[in-house]
Amino acid sequence: MRIAMIGTGYVGLVSGACFADFGHDVICVDKDEKKIASLHRGEIPIYEPGLDELVASNVKAKRLDFTTDLSKPVADADAVFIAVGTPSRRGDGHADLSYVYAAAKEIAQSLTGFTVVVTKSTVPVGTGDEVERIIRETNPKADVVVASNPEFLREGAAIRDFKFPDRVVVGTSDERGRKVMGDIYRPLSLNQAPLMFTERRTAEMIKYAANAFLATKITFINEIADLSEKVGANVQEVARGIGLDNRIGTKFLHAGPGFGGSC
Ligand SMILES: NC(=O)c1ccc[n+]([C@@H]2O[C@H](COP(=O)([O-])OP(=O)(O)OC[C@H]3O[C@@H](n4cnc5c(N)ncnc54)[C@H](O)[C@@H]3O)[C@@H](O)[C@H]2O)c1
Repeated sequence: MRIAMIGTGYVGLVSGACFADFGHDVICVDKDEKKIASLHRGEIPIYEPGLDELVASNVKAKRLDFTTDLSKPVADADAVFIAVGTPSRRGDGHADLSYVYAAAKEIAQSLTGFTVVVTKSTVPVGTGDEVERIIRETNPKADVVVASNPEFLREGAAIRDFKFPDRVVVGTSDERGRKVMGDIYRPLSLNQAPLMFTERRTAEMIKYAANAFLATKITFINEIADLSEKVGANVQEVARGIGLDNRIGTKFLHAGPGFGGSC
């Protein structure tokens, strides 16, 4: 499969390098000229264990390249992934979707042949509808399916998380779209990763619901830590005591500074 990755940040670079390692032809695009120039020199702009070797070996095998101009990679692609930032807006905390919508507009202008445009950025439910509307308005002739494929990787364990995920979620009801996405992720079946197909809005909801649930666990154990201090209990042992219950689980039950991060 030929893949264009729009946005070569944490998610775009790790996903692009892993897709190339699966055997696909990947071009990572970014507006940041300095970032693309340093990648051309073989310098990795982020620290992620194993990423430098993964990028170097796939560049050498000519399966991975970098550019600032999306037109050719998008025109040639079977799938175009949007992996640009969606930072929280100051004031109201909403996700700033301006980068996603700007990328959708730019992508639309270069589409040729059947293409799946996939939102990998973390976005609120309904964003895929707006991405599709923008693409169809900008290029009414485009033969396109807009899918959702939220990313669950963790910084610091990103390559492992990408190659051995608990699940891959793909949101599209279109058969051609499902076929392309199935082909892209097929190598993961060797790692027994469940590939879950669902509707686009459901996929978007899964990402927000997963993040909200993990944030809830962290917030909950921090509240229990405060309470434990007041009543003279040991919160680490409380966390272990409740986490050993399979219905609860031990992960994300460590009292600490609270939750944060790009999503
Ligand atoms: N970092 C994580 O751990 C993580 C995990 C899961 C999901 N996500 C989500 O993935 C998305 C990307 O996150 P990130 O951490 O990779 O962000 P990032 O800020 O590291 O990278 C985003 C990149 O997109 C580029 N960009 C913006 N607009 C562009 C355009 N029109 N064309 C080309 N490039 C463009 C920027 O220059 C930047 O390099 C966000 O929605 C984030 O919430 C992040």
